[in-house]
Amino acid sequence: MKRRTFVLGAGAFTGMGIVTASERWQSKQTSVSAIPATRNFTVSGKATLRQRAATKGLLYGAALQSKQLETDSVFSRAIAQECNIIVPEFELKWRTVRPSPSVYHFAPADKLLSFAHAHNMKTRGHTLVWHEDLPSWVDSALNSLNAKQILTDHISTVVKHYAGKMHSWDVVNEAIEPKDGRSDGLRNSPWLTMLGPEYIDLAFRVAAESDPKAVLTYNDFGMDYDTPFGRKKRMLVLNLLHQLKANGTPIHALGIQAHLHRDNPNFNPDSFSTFLQEVADLGLKIMITELDLTEKKLPTDTTLRDRTIAAAYEDYLTVALSQPAVIAVLTWGLSDRYTWLSTAEPRTDGAPVRPLPLDAQMKRKLAWNAIARSLDKTTQRSMIP
Ligand code: XIL
Repeated sequence: MKRRTFVLGAGAFTGMGIVTASERWQSKQTSVSAIPATRNFTVSGKATLRQRAATKGLLYGAALQSKQLETDSVFSRAIAQECNIIVPEFELKWRTVRPSPSVYHFAPADKLLSFAHAHNMKTRGHTLVWHEDLPSWVDSALNSLNAKQILTDHISTVVKHYAGKMHSWDVVNEAIEPKDGRSDGLRNSPWLTMLGPEYIDLAFRVAAESDPKAVLTYNDFGMDYDTPFGRKKRMLVLNLLHQLKANGTPIHALGIQAHLHRDNPNFNPDSFSTFLQEVADLGLKIMITELDLTEKKLPTDTTLRDRTIAAAYEDYLTVALSQPAVIAVLTWGLSDRYTWLSTAEPRTDGAPVRPLPLDAQMKRKLAWNAIARSLDKTTQRSMIP
């Protein structure tokens, strides 16, 4: 029996009932064929994702690059149509924005903020402190005597340049790495080596002094699933957030990158919902900051893939958006024409990956429907944050 027939068969077998994420979790179904053929992704009305988000007082947007806006008018029109927030994919990372200790290169990011302003969009800043994408001069120049000044100057200069224009900043990105074996779970990054754990509080304080209006965010990945790694990551991130709040650090939100896998094989709606509530109980907002899905283990069949990806997004976002503290959903890219996963996680069968709401021709896919449906069924927030 061919897989496709089997999927349809499975759909018929499960009758007309929709197998919910919780039921799938309970039944420990991990096969891709767990998405019943009867599951539909119909969307009502013609509203765009930004309109559906705004109706609920939410933000929906995507990561993109300034060169994509400059060279691809079809893409930039799609961004303007679907997003009410954008985030530069790399223009505000150290390697781009600070090519040498004394040079700040703002022009590429400035273009993105100008585009956002022209289309009544907000912008996220990504990211002020990360262990990756560091320019070569950092390796050679950074030491325990100058690291505090170098980091302080960077955050102050970059944040002040955009003060009042940035919705939020990923102040510190991916600082937790359980595999590095520290009891506090901190990643052995150059910043930790040179400055100790205090670098995180320092980064947030300098950012807050530089732009008191921005939503200051700690951003990380790996918190989505009920695996030993996922549970440990959630616990360590929560511990970090507790410590920062207890210390009076000016942190306002947690960014959950949400780089999902396959068909959400270990997604447990109840434990994810509990985790989100524990974050909210700290008085923090939550943003889904880099949603996409590594689908290299999904079958080649694009119909089956699109349905599986859509189901994963709708299952995940239904839970995420049921938490009132969640204020924004951003996908890491809008169209399959531009996704980092093409190179970071290519399919073994060589087929183009299809993780994003629009296909490479800017046509809406079921992933778009899944996000639209999740926005439509969530509760109204008081105001766009
Ligand atoms: C990625 C970019 O999309 C790639 O183009 C680049 O080669 C590597 O970084 N988590 C993050 C993002 O916080 O900054 C990363 O972006 C993806 C993972």
